[in-house]
Amino acid sequence: MNTVKIGIIGTGYVGLVTGLCLADFGFQVTCGDINGGKIEKLDQGEIPIYEPGLEVVFDRVRKLDRIAFTCNCEELIRNNDVIFVCVGTPPKEDGSADLTYVWDAARTIGRTIESYKVVVDKSTVPVGTAARVQSIILDELRNRNLVCDFDVVSNPEFLREGKAVHDFTHPDRVVIGSNNDRATAIMKKIYNPLKLNEVPFVITTPETAEIIKYASNAFLATKIAFINEIANLCEAVNADVQKVAKAMGMDGRISPKFLHPGPGFGGSCFPKDTRALVRIAHEHGVEQLIVSSVVESNEQQKLRMVRKIKEAFEGNLEGRIITVLGLSFKPETDDMRESPSLVIIPELIRAGAFVRTFDPQAMPEAMKALKDHEKFISYCEDEYDACRNAHAIVILTDWNQFRRLDLDKVAALMKGRNFFDLRNLYDPEEVYNMGFQYEGVGKTLAAHLKGLDRQEHPEQLEFRAR
Ligand SMILES: NC(=O)c1ccc[n+]([C@@H]2O[C@H](COP(=O)([O-])OP(=O)(O)OC[C@H]3O[C@@H](n4cnc5c(N)ncnc54)[C@H](O)[C@@H]3O)[C@@H](O)[C@H]2O)c1
Repeated sequence: MNTVKIGIIGTGYVGLVTGLCLADFGFQVTCGDINGGKIEKLDQGEIPIYEPGLEVVFDRVRKLDRIAFTCNCEELIRNNDVIFVCVGTPPKEDGSADLTYVWDAARTIGRTIESYKVVVDKSTVPVGTAARVQSIILDELRNRNLVCDFDVVSNPEFLREGKAVHDFTHPDRVVIGSNNDRATAIMKKIYNPLKLNEVPFVITTPETAEIIKYASNAFLATKIAFINEIANLCEAVNADVQKVAKAMGMDGRISPKFLHPGPGFGGSCFPKDTRALVRIAHEHGVEQLIVSSVVESNEQQKLRMVRKIKEAFEGNLEGRIITVLGLSFKPETDDMRESPSLVIIPELIRAGAFVRTFDPQAMPEAMKALKDHEKFISYCEDEYDACRNAHAIVILTDWNQFRRLDLDKVAALMKGRNFFDLRNLYDPEEVYNMGFQYEGVGKTLAAHLKGLDRQEHPEQLEFRAR
């Protein structure tokens, strides 16, 4: 394989980013999907997801004629040497990963291949999936009375939505789980541009690679759930969680990342991957007590946010207008999968509230996800429009444009004065001085005032002493 040709099965967030970035590395790539609408859009030069920076890569590789899109996955498999499987692995009712799409892709590969292929599992999949993909392909080959060489490699993806292009091209590590030197060499060749940039490679078995992905996501989710619980304690004792997190993060063994409290984690990965890890371990007779608690703690955190809002209105939200700023699970994405807003907004509505909301990108997706509640939600033109006549404002997602609201304007538009900063974006004192009742997560006004450090803010302490 002098010039490796790459086929991608599943052109969602991961498949599209992988395909476009590998084309940008210089490979000829074909992205396939069973969703005809998606492929049609891509063929016409339209990206079906919001992902900053992706358009630039898309335009570049299209101009160079390095990317193609197709619904014909059989042809894609026949015409390419390395087949990346990037299909979804959504959660089932019991929390385990639904692997239907992975098995479908494996069967199609087994029914189609005629020459050596490297089949790469990039989807997040339970331990043992690479082995099962191998046996499905072998079964299909047996049905065809064909002997054909192939290898299955596990190559989990760690990109973050919103920063996907950067993460794909500047990963902390590339994990290659392979049982075969030939396949490993091909994978190294594909990722060689990263190796040249001194990105470390972890070469291991498929089983270890599969666990690395779940363990990494579960650990990050654990950090978030942990700091959320510490934040809840801070509220009870008038301590400032941001100072706690800052000081904790100064310890090199801990690191400051993923220590930001909020309304609970969401997205297409952490919730489903934590639940799946618990199931996988259980099926192997091993309990994951820590990760089980993380799943429960995260559910509780979302409901705690609802209680916080209700308590400000003595438990009665009947007829109250609540402004919700931000719907996606994090900024810079339109992805609504498992966003905390999907729990918090319906709960507010159930308690009698009417919601006015704005999100810079996620409103079309949110309208679909919150369809059952559409009578009680107004999707607004911008953040200020959303504040009209509101009794309370709730910042749910930390989009940059919500970080410096014109509070004079907000106050003039609102009826009430409750300000729930569920991402801790604001200085509590500043918001309080504008006439609002401020509530953050793990950060009360009292704690903030008590904790002002003489060296950091001598003028404020002097002012208060007068
Ligand atoms: N989204 C992320 O941030 C992220 C990050 C790392 C890993 N992952 C993992 O990557 C995998 C894909 O996630 P995603 O967010 O890209 O999912 P997605 O739902 O955005 O995309 C999956 C795509 O696969 C297509 N598909 C399903 N079956 C197919 C088949 N048989 N043939 C061709 N196409 C098929 C679907 O139509 C869809 O377009 C998941 O396992 C996920 O856990 C996701």
